[in-house]
Amino acid sequence: GIDLGKLLAKTGMVTLDPGFVNTASCSSEITYIDGDAGILRYRGYPIEQLAERSNFIEVSYLLIYGELPTQAQLDDFSSKISRHTLLHEDLKRFFGGFPRDAHPMPVLSSAVSALSTFYQDSLNPFDNSQVEISTIRLLAKVPTIAAYAYKKSVGQPFLYPDNSLGLVQNFLRMTFGFPAEPYDVDPELVKALDLLFILHADHEQNCSTSTVRLVGSSEANLFASISAGINALFGPLHGGANSAVLEMLEGIRDEGGDVESFVKRVKNKEDGVRLMGFGHRVYKNYDPRAAIIKKTADQILGKLGGDDQLLEIAKKLEETALADDYFVERKLYPNVDFYTGLIYRAMGFPTKFFTVLFALGRLPGWIAHWREMNQDPATKIGRPRQVYVGAPERNFVPMDGR
Ligand code: ACO
Repeated sequence: GIDLGKLLAKTGMVTLDPGFVNTASCSSEITYIDGDAGILRYRGYPIEQLAERSNFIEVSYLLIYGELPTQAQLDDFSSKISRHTLLHEDLKRFFGGFPRDAHPMPVLSSAVSALSTFYQDSLNPFDNSQVEISTIRLLAKVPTIAAYAYKKSVGQPFLYPDNSLGLVQNFLRMTFGFPAEPYDVDPELVKALDLLFILHADHEQNCSTSTVRLVGSSEANLFASISAGINALFGPLHGGANSAVLEMLEGIRDEGGDVESFVKRVKNKEDGVRLMGFGHRVYKNYDPRAAIIKKTADQILGKLGGDDQLLEIAKKLEETALADDYFVERKLYPNVDFYTGLIYRAMGFPTKFFTVLFALGRLPGWIAHWREMNQDPATKIGRPRQVYVGAPERNFVPMDGR
């Protein structure tokens, strides 16, 4: 085939595409999105079917290995993950070094980066068995690290993982349980969090996934690449939107709950205020993930006793916006984040922690992309060009002449 990149380079031509809005950086077999039709598929399977019939561990397997597992493969995968959930005691001491009010995202990325120092036996990106063990270590240890980041922030003791539990149960217990006390995990809560993880598990070349691939293209190890992805997700325009929705709803509530006047301010673009949780760069019809969440949000919030006032405001906002020309003409629909914050909050997670939950869900997607990149013979070190617009050549001016 023709290498278009090489061909253009020969002609001296460069494409300028800020934000890579229309530039593909790779080919991929993992996730398919059709933004106009509202379609999302992992490895060909529609997100609706996976949400209804699969679970997060199975979806992780599917994303990483490309096929749905047999029962034996799934059992083997799950049991390997549960056997690696423990953190090295020295890594636990790491958490003591951060201020108590530290945001959990940089705590998570630092601890994941530190895995490169604890597991020096699994850093070679081209040794299959090393990639395999580092994959398992990440899937197993990141939930433990996330739970410890939470425990640190509330000043409570860490819990050892209980490997008789599933991944999501274990994570909830380590987050909200206490040592030597029974923690009865509500199965509906586990199911809801599992579903949210499935919906976040991959979304092709978004900012954090592209970061993981770019860092990995230098042959950096898996832990280093994932740590970089977590930092990309930390940004408010990417992983921070779910917290922003909640802050917006609280703001409306605190000002008396007047939804119509808030929508009016959005339409008039007063102070650049936007309806958070609405609109998407790729989905211009509807976000299929939002449609799934909306179905379950009522049920989960009813069961968990979420903040009814905020849910009412959210529903009224959605109703008002969907019937308003401003939003209809611009094809602005609720995105996945519109309802997730409310659900996370009803589960007891503080707002700051919402982005960590996004990271837990996105982890298998990042790993799948990193592995795909390393197996692809077309991969080269990522090295974009630029269009130089600075000063032309000029002569150095001595200090006394400036
Ligand atoms: N509220 C009000 N107006 C909006 C919104 C919104 N949420 N989103 C877009 N618009 C308007 C813009 O003002 C613009 O109007 P104009 O044509 O009169 O200037 C038009 O719609 C097009 O907007 P763009 O910013 O060009 O759309 P883009 O595709 O670049 O932005 C984005 C997508 C960033 C998601 C945007 O819709 C937004 O800011 N939404 C709110 C934040 C949010 O929810 N982010 C989460 C994204 S999903 C995720 O990360 C999982």
